[in-house]
Amino acid sequence: MTVTSHCPVAQGIPVLDADPFAAQSLEDPLPFQRQLRDAGPVAYLSKYGVYAIGRFAELSQALSNWQGLISGAGVGIRDLDAPKGLLQTDPPLHDAPREVLQEILSARALRAMKDTCMTRVAGLLDQHLGHGASGEAVEIDGLSQIAHALPVEFFPDASGIDESARDKFVDFADHNFNTAGPYNDLVKAGECKAAELATWMGQKCQRDALKPEGFGADIWAAADRGEILHENAALLASSLIAAGIDTTIYGIAGMLYALATNPGQWELVKQNPGLARVAFDEALRWSSPVQAMFRKSSQELQIGGVTIPAGAKVLMCYPAANRDPRRWDNPDKFDVTRDPSGHLAFGMGVHQCVGQHAARLQAACLLEQLVDRVEKIELVGQVKYHHNNVLRGWSSVPLRFTLK
Ligand code: HEM
Repeated sequence: MTVTSHCPVAQGIPVLDADPFAAQSLEDPLPFQRQLRDAGPVAYLSKYGVYAIGRFAELSQALSNWQGLISGAGVGIRDLDAPKGLLQTDPPLHDAPREVLQEILSARALRAMKDTCMTRVAGLLDQHLGHGASGEAVEIDGLSQIAHALPVEFFPDASGIDESARDKFVDFADHNFNTAGPYNDLVKAGECKAAELATWMGQKCQRDALKPEGFGADIWAAADRGEILHENAALLASSLIAAGIDTTIYGIAGMLYALATNPGQWELVKQNPGLARVAFDEALRWSSPVQAMFRKSSQELQIGGVTIPAGAKVLMCYPAANRDPRRWDNPDKFDVTRDPSGHLAFGMGVHQCVGQHAARLQAACLLEQLVDRVEKIELVGQVKYHHNNVLRGWSSVPLRFTLK
């Protein structure tokens, strides 16, 4: 935890006592996000001695300034000893692995996987919705039976990772994400299994353990071509899994929840399936899976007319910016007719999500088939959230699907 020697009050920066990592905020993050936006372009979180940004314009500026707000000191609240992986490095160290992943996960590469993804979705929907008569209603948990089931199988398959114990990926990533926040009960609860899971994950991503085709093998091939170091290949492959499964699960969960609780919007998607892509991006804007990442100021810098001192940790609050009324009309409304492009749910700048096409592919395949098979989606019980320090997690989204 960084406590700066500068007094934020003297710099004209509002001080907030609110705690974004308290259980209450994790259960319902919107009040903190509103408070942060309303406080000013930058606020200081007294409990942690960090700065925080929640308005769209200033967050976009901050995320674009990788020289002034670095990731190499760690994107969690605590500093890292050394840059690590892709997410926690800065250019020029970041450039080569980023280029490799960008190529492997390009929109073109992902389009080639559409048939496989469609088959996977069809299997899931056959299993859980069946092919009953028109008007038949089926109740399932949208989280475990769809949102979780799709990425936890599709993405490891695409990476060429064997089929065993795939649920462990979610636990591995859950703990990783938790450690970006303060050392609280969530982190402590994951600690006992962390080392074992990290070793297990590392082994899965070794060349010999991977299938000859897939993102994992592509990463090793890039190492053979000299584009990245061999000693970084397994870490890069495992960072895809760590970054790409839980986030997509929660992105899809948020989308299903949004459609179930906004029947008029589902009607619009049904009438115009071309809106599928917009519907997912709008759901990510409205319910952003990644709630926070940190940067460290490498120098004194100006944001929104105030000065952030050098050496400060700064919280990037993506979901707050995604509902900033200065940027979005009626921001609390889930609205598939708006243009959500430019939302910050995938970040922005040099670290903008390199796996976004993979996430979009899965959501698009799912929506395409739901439109074909489902007349109505309804929420039939209380949703349950899964607390994670930096993710908007879900553990249950009870849904009723009425078949076409
Ligand atoms: C980076 C969100 C899916 C791999 C990021 C960042 C965000 C994000 C906000 C930027 C973090 C920062 O600013 O420090 C999401 C969301 C997803 C998703 C909301 C799903 C809806 C995926 C998938 C993959 C992936 C499917 C893997 C295929 C990565 C990687 C980075 C990243 C490797 C680091 C990029 C870099 O540092 O250059 N993601 N992500 N993500 N994401 Fe995603």
